[in-house]
Amino acid sequence: MTQILRTIGQVQTALKQHKKNNQTIGFVPTMGALHAGHGNLIEASKTHCDVTIVSIFVNLKQFAAGEDFDTYPRIPDTDIAFLKTYHVDYVFLPTDEQIYPPHFSTHITMSGPADGLESITRPHFFHGVATIVTKLLLITLPDIAFFGEKDYQQLSVIKRLTTDLSIPVMIMGIETKRESDGLAMSSRNRYLNNAQRKIAVKLYESLCLVKDLIAQNPDYQMACQTAKCFLLDNGFNKIDYIEVRCGETLSPTDINGHIRILGAAFLGTTRLIDNIKTESL
Ligand code: PAF
Repeated sequence: MTQILRTIGQVQTALKQHKKNNQTIGFVPTMGALHAGHGNLIEASKTHCDVTIVSIFVNLKQFAAGEDFDTYPRIPDTDIAFLKTYHVDYVFLPTDEQIYPPHFSTHITMSGPADGLESITRPHFFHGVATIVTKLLLITLPDIAFFGEKDYQQLSVIKRLTTDLSIPVMIMGIETKRESDGLAMSSRNRYLNNAQRKIAVKLYESLCLVKDLIAQNPDYQMACQTAKCFLLDNGFNKIDYIEVRCGETLSPTDINGHIRILGAAFLGTTRLIDNIKTESL
């Protein structure tokens, strides 16, 4: 049976008992508006751990003024029904006050993998993510926490964060779940109207175009420029970045091992992100 927990104390009491029984804890942090991509994280948690807890919290600190905090889809009843179909053990649904009580004054700032890409247009973003993820990990103290590769820079930041702060948790990245046409599943896809939904897949196609181009000629800049033109020609109205980075470190220059091609672009007012993997030549 899926239990709903609303306070930090309730989470700690419930999980303590499982830890006493030597059961492993899997944690899936989310902001709700759940979809099959989250379902994959939950399935991974259920495969690897004895107990699964999912949090739903729309974290104000990772949104800047003018971003979509107010309009971010909040559908807790639908989300809980979804989580019940996966037989999740616990759902943590805290209030803002639980997470950020009056006088809250601690913030985590990060560099390294947090530099560039998302941070260029969202300089606040990874500080907000690092702060909430640290807090949620310390509340739940899981054995493994699961994050989607769709937010690849976020995944890299969280791996760095937990290593740097010696937080005793394994961070497991789970491959992006895609719609049948290739569009990466995202809670923000709900913002798209029918016409935009048809165009949205071009972001994925633009990354595949970079992959094909660099397989023939490793001129990354030229390939990214071609992909940007492709996006603008196909209905995207603003491009934040299309970049080729090292898949391990996110370095733009020192690229060995596998390569990540990452992109972020606007369709109307909706900002979509995606990334794909390829091998270095
Ligand atoms: O990826 C998300 O949904 C959020 O950034 C996270 C990790 C739950 C932190 O608020």
